[in-house]
Amino acid sequence: MFAEQCLKIVLTVSLLFIVLFRAEASNSASGPRPPHNLRCEYLKNPMGIDVKEPRFFWMLEHSERGQKQSAYQLIVSTDPSVETQILWDTGKVLSDQSIHVVYEGKSLESDRTYYWKVRYWDTNDLPSLYSTVARFDTGLFYPEDWDGEWIGGMNQVRKEFSVVGTVKRGRVFVCGLGYYELRLNGYKVGNNVLDPGYTTYAKRVLYSTYDITDMILEGENALGVMLGKGWSDPLILKLQINIELEGGEKIKFFSDKSWKGKDGPIISDSIYNGEIYDARLETPGWDRPKFDDSTWSPVETGIVPKGSLSAQMVQPIQVMDALVPLNITQPQEGVYVFDMGQNLSGWAEIRVSGPRGTRVRLRYAELLYKDGMINQENLRSARAQDIYILKGNGKEIYEPRFTYHGFRYVELTGFPGVPTMDTLRGKVVHSAVEQIGSFSCSNPILNQLQRLIIWGQKTNLHSIPTDCNQRDERMGWLGDAHLTAEEALMNFDMGAFYTKFIKDIRDVQDKKGTITDTVPHIWGQRPADPAWGAAYPLLCWYMYRYYGDTRILEEHYESVKKYVEFLRSKATANLLEYSYYGDWVAIEQTSGSFVSSFYYYYCVLILKKMAETLNYEAEENAYEELAEKIKEAFHKKYFDSETKSYANGTQTANSMALFLDLAPESARGSVFQNLRSNILYKHNTHLTTGILGTKYIMEVLTDFNASSLAYELATQTSYPSWGFMIRNDATTLWELWQYKTGPSMNSHNHPMFGSVGAWLYRALAGLDQNNNSAGFKNIVIHPRLVRDLKYASGSIHTPRGPLTSAWSKSTDSIILKVSVPVNTEAEILLPKLKLRNVVLKESGVQIYDGQKFLTGVAGILMVEETQSDVIIRVGSGHYTFELLAD
Ligand code: BGC
Repeated sequence: MFAEQCLKIVLTVSLLFIVLFRAEASNSASGPRPPHNLRCEYLKNPMGIDVKEPRFFWMLEHSERGQKQSAYQLIVSTDPSVETQILWDTGKVLSDQSIHVVYEGKSLESDRTYYWKVRYWDTNDLPSLYSTVARFDTGLFYPEDWDGEWIGGMNQVRKEFSVVGTVKRGRVFVCGLGYYELRLNGYKVGNNVLDPGYTTYAKRVLYSTYDITDMILEGENALGVMLGKGWSDPLILKLQINIELEGGEKIKFFSDKSWKGKDGPIISDSIYNGEIYDARLETPGWDRPKFDDSTWSPVETGIVPKGSLSAQMVQPIQVMDALVPLNITQPQEGVYVFDMGQNLSGWAEIRVSGPRGTRVRLRYAELLYKDGMINQENLRSARAQDIYILKGNGKEIYEPRFTYHGFRYVELTGFPGVPTMDTLRGKVVHSAVEQIGSFSCSNPILNQLQRLIIWGQKTNLHSIPTDCNQRDERMGWLGDAHLTAEEALMNFDMGAFYTKFIKDIRDVQDKKGTITDTVPHIWGQRPADPAWGAAYPLLCWYMYRYYGDTRILEEHYESVKKYVEFLRSKATANLLEYSYYGDWVAIEQTSGSFVSSFYYYYCVLILKKMAETLNYEAEENAYEELAEKIKEAFHKKYFDSETKSYANGTQTANSMALFLDLAPESARGSVFQNLRSNILYKHNTHLTTGILGTKYIMEVLTDFNASSLAYELATQTSYPSWGFMIRNDATTLWELWQYKTGPSMNSHNHPMFGSVGAWLYRALAGLDQNNNSAGFKNIVIHPRLVRDLKYASGSIHTPRGPLTSAWSKSTDSIILKVSVPVNTEAEILLPKLKLRNVVLKESGVQIYDGQKFLTGVAGILMVEETQSDVIIRVGSGHYTFELLAD
């Protein structure tokens, strides 16, 4: 009794302390905080955009809960202070819009720097301070803005130029195909590698813009450009420098026939085969002024890519990390194998000293043979090796420029001496998208799975989403692209990346409306397998769902429609027959035409939703009608009323039918029971799905309240399962459920089975939005507290701000912490599990007594109880809920 009293006193005192402390904290920074995380066209302070009406985004914070933006003011100017030279001052706009605010000021000009800031008013009409100033640079809007010519003929070109006067502002616009490295006065310009991003060069080529104000010298300057093949042959370059001098004079330099060239130290380069670099062929000083290039040849002109020059408005590829090897072995005399401990994309940087002419060879692999030697068989024809020939003047540092490899192991031969851990670093190279999501939970397998997904996904972002990063492929296979998209959107900042890739898809469309299996199109077929082509409507739709992007819907509506109409022209009795890949790499095959018809329906459905969102009423109705017809035909043809399953009753077939509600209400229950017993009894809680079925089965199980079964599949460790890959030392997901190492389709870094990543966030952390919401305006937090999972937490950056959920459970209580961004509302569904007669507290204060909602706690709008859950509606803010048995 006494102990209990004491405990109460201690608790009350500490609560008081917390309350007092909080009050003080909020006083010191109360009210609306200045907007932060300012973006323009999804990018932070982008250089060289060529959108004339760019869109602005900002995130909001507030010391109080339940806050919204009631108004904003945004100012754009050409003056860094944003006080004068104003081009657009919105004044106070009564609106809660904080994303996709379209520029409506005076016309933007090519090659200018614009500055902007924004403030907002909260629900109580209290204004925030202005944000810090953000900026964006425009590129060259019009073909007339470009001077000079495309040049080429050699893999190294140079030109000197002189500047009389003090440079106020300098920009360089550059496109070198396939890849370039631009150097100015001895230094590399910018941090991009493998630039520019890959596109269909006959349609669009991307140029990058760099600020070189501080690199230009008064007087003599020299430009040097190295060119690599990448995806292009021949090597060509277009470059322009625009300089503004103090005093206002403007000068330009550009690529033209006065440039000179000479083949440099890169003897050969190929994405698949690697690079051979002979350091003896370096010409020191070639990228600096006053270099004697009299023996260099005039460049060639006249080779012009067909595509138009377009600004690279996507995060460039960069070196994102440098890994230290885990260990070095010597399986044979003079053969050293470095284990990087992680499958990655990029290359090795080596440090070496030795006699001139020594040839050091690096070979890359995902696998080892039993004897410790590297196994390159599964790279098929990709040689994946870099060779460096020493110049012999002390310590030399080499990393390749115009290739990349997918590997965990690096074999080093020809090394003069004995290498150490310091000899080599693994450079991690991919599109520089920021990671914006994190997930963890009490089950180590799922934490590993999340890690594999993150690594697999980022190392397959190389300006297009690639299927793999190691063998003779690395294509933008569209099936892989849409299956991984939701996972990618939750883990990474993908707005700009998909905006670019969706344009890439449109670039391959022909007059008939067809698109291709891979984008840009190298492998696979035209027309695309319908399950692959569905990437076009689906990626557009995901951009709307995740970012609220209606411009994408507007810009691509007609082309998506053309694609859907092409599908319609191929349909017989409202169903599609043609299919090349079916449910790719499945253990149990599902009929290809079933899969294609499913995707036909899916594409029509998305087009209907696009029309609805854009208020194209007549088209919405027309496509709704078409969808209904497909649905009817689908059910009629594929439903077996005796077995109560679709097609041949595979997990994939029944999951697909349930996922899109293709099964009528009357059949849903039994089809689901069929699916469930197939998993449990026929396959002893294992998947038999390929890449398509795997995405939908997890979602369907969750929708049918069978998250625990989905969880068992996700944590399964015997074959086939993700856990099986983990048990077999995978550090990224494989292409196949099987462990194979031979010379065929056995990639050990294929992100496509990573679709389950979206399920981790949605089902286990519970982060979601309601069906009609876009850009997480109407959030749903519904964690599934499955089986033995003790806790799980997830956090994603929605375009409106960070959204987090973290729960833990014990026998007598469930704790859930959530953060909901300003300007949004959330409906939280907290499962009661076995707790009876529950009460709910928020930060220690009771808000539900088992009967009714107790009002008065800031931000909490409603609490109600259903048979299975407690439902809480909240405004923005951070909350800690505790659900207890009374
Ligand atoms: C790729 C896959 C792709 C498939 C289509 C493979 O070679 O690696 O990821 O989706 O082909 O058949």
